[in-house]
Amino acid sequence: MKVLGIETSCDETGVAVYDTDAGLRAHALYSQIALHAEYGGVVPELASRDHVRKLLPLVRQTLAEAGLSTSDLDGVAYTAGPGLVGALLVGAGVARSMAWALDVPAVAVHHMEGHLLAPLLEDDPVRGRPEPPFVALLVSGGHTQLVHVETIGQYRLLGETLDDAAGEAFDKTAKLMGLPYPGGPQLAALAEQGNPGVFRFARPMTDRPGLDFSFSGLKTQVLLAWQNSDRADQTRADIARGFEDAVVETLAIKCERALDAAGCDTLVVAGGVGANKRLRARLEETARKRGGRVSFPRPQFCTDNGAMIAFAGALRLQAGQHEDASVKVTPRWDM
Ligand code: KG4
Ligand code: ZN
Repeated sequence: MKVLGIETSCDETGVAVYDTDAGLRAHALYSQIALHAEYGGVVPELASRDHVRKLLPLVRQTLAEAGLSTSDLDGVAYTAGPGLVGALLVGAGVARSMAWALDVPAVAVHHMEGHLLAPLLEDDPVRGRPEPPFVALLVSGGHTQLVHVETIGQYRLLGETLDDAAGEAFDKTAKLMGLPYPGGPQLAALAEQGNPGVFRFARPMTDRPGLDFSFSGLKTQVLLAWQNSDRADQTRADIARGFEDAVVETLAIKCERALDAAGCDTLVVAGGVGANKRLRARLEETARKRGGRVSFPRPQFCTDNGAMIAFAGALRLQAGQHEDASVKVTPRWDM
C-alpha cells in the first residue's frame, strides 16, 4: 500500500510517500521559518497562505522522487489537528480533493500520533523496530506528554505539562535572552558553548511523586538570572547550558518514573525537542543503566514532517480506518 502523507499543522509544509512493503519512498519539507522570523513567531494567516503556495509543488516533487504517479497511490493521509485551523484546512482540502479525484480513501491523522509513531518509521539496522508496549515521551512546541502505548492505537496518558510545553519553554527562554526565532535550536546550540554548573536551575516537580511537568517557573528563573547577570556572551551560554540541563534532567527523571509505572523497558521519544542532542545522550544513558532501550526518529523526523503522517496514515488504512468525504479539521484534539 502506498500512502501520500500531508502535514500542514503549523509552519512546515511536509509531504511524503510511505510504502507498506518498501518503507519510506520519498519525503520533502518546506520550512516557513524565514517568513515568520521578523515577527518573532508564527503568523497564522501567513502560514496558511504559504502552505497554499508550496503544497502542490511539494506533492509533485515527492511523487517524482518516489518514481510514482498519482494513480499509484492507495490512500492520502493528512494532519487533521491539533494545529492552526487555516493551516490545517489547506492540507485537509488538498488531501481530501486528491483522494476524491483518485477514488482512494483519505485518512485524518492526529498530529501527535504522527510524532508518537515516528520512532517506528525507519528500521534500526541493529535492534529492529521498537515494538509496543512502550512508553513514549512526546516533547514538542505544543505538547509535553508521557504516554503508555499498549498497542498501536491504544494510548494511555501517564502525565503531561500543566503549563508550558518543553519546546515552548526553550523558545520563550531563548527569546527573553534575545536569541532570534525559532529559539529552541538556537538555545541548544548556544548551550554547547556553556559550562555546566555555573547556573543551576530547579528540576520542577521532581521532588514529589507524579508524572506531570511544569516549565513556566523555570523560564522565570532564567529571566531573573539573565537580568541580574553581566549579559556577557559567555554568561548567556552558561545560562543556556543551565536551562538545558534542568529541562533534560527533569524529562529524564520523569521518563524513568513512567517506565517503572508502566512496567516497560522501552522508551520512544518524539517531537521537536527529541532532536536535542543532550536529551538524546541522557536518555541513552538511562536506557543503558536499566538494560532497556530508547529509540528516537532521526533528528529530521523529530520536528514536523510529512513522513510521520504518511506512516501513521498507512497504519490506520491497513487497520481499515478512513473517513467520509467532508473536509474537517480539529484544531483542538485530544489523542
Ligand atoms: O514537533 P515540532 O516541530 O512542532 C510542534 O508540533 O510543536 O517541535 C518544535 C519545537 C519548538 O519548540 C523547537 O524550539 C523545539 O521543538 N526544538 C528544540 C530543538 N529542535 C527543535 N528544542 C531543543 N533542542 C533542539 N535541538
Ligand atoms: Zn509537531
